[in-house]
Amino acid sequence: MDLPDLMIIVATTRTGGVGPAIADWFNDKALTHGRFTPRTVNLAELALPFMDEPNHPRLGRYTHQHTRDWSDQVAASDAFVFVMPEYNHGFNAPLKNAIDFLHQEWARKPVGFVSYGGVAGGTRAVQMIKPVVSCLQMVPVTDAVAVPFVQNCLDEHGRMKPSEIHDGAATTLLDGLARWTAALRQP
Ligand SMILES: Cc1cc2nc3c(=O)[nH]c(=O)nc-3n(C[C@H](O)[C@H](O)[C@H](O)COP(=O)(O)O)c2cc1C
Repeated sequence: MDLPDLMIIVATTRTGGVGPAIADWFNDKALTHGRFTPRTVNLAELALPFMDEPNHPRLGRYTHQHTRDWSDQVAASDAFVFVMPEYNHGFNAPLKNAIDFLHQEWARKPVGFVSYGGVAGGTRAVQMIKPVVSCLQMVPVTDAVAVPFVQNCLDEHGRMKPSEIHDGAATTLLDGLARWTAALRQP
């Protein structure tokens, strides 16, 4: 069966950021869930510059190879999960930059959120990004994973040490994402 392609975006670009560990765990959850073909894209490795296209992205007239490559990757994806930290009660700038580069490639596709941070588990950042993704006609999935006190959720090797609550929330997110992906893929 042709499973939808799920792009898991690691939003942190910080040296030593914990985002990759959370994303590894979520990628495994998505594989086990069995309704997606997941693929992780790390914004630190993607290394986009600050948005430098002369034309509005809705026109799709990209002048830089890095934009065309990013466009191809996003266009080929059916659904997204943002693995995102909370910085100063908001989402981090590299994630907004990566979103702003493109337009139609995001439209009519669902996006789920795996957020992390201190006491609020990144939920303030998620609430802040919802109007942004809605502007691009993405569908934000309500059921989300929040990881409060993220440093306590890592083992001695820096790997995610999920609780039953994290595992359950990931399954619920993936269930919701699968329902929206199927609905939005209708012709
Ligand atoms: C610039 C900056 C701002 C932060 N602001 C918040 C915040 O507002 N709320 C919060 O819960 N954690 C905040 N933190 C702590 C982060 O949640 C924590 O450092 C986390 O590991 C960051 O994700 P990363 O390691 O993947 O970059 C902040 C961290 C940084 C570096």
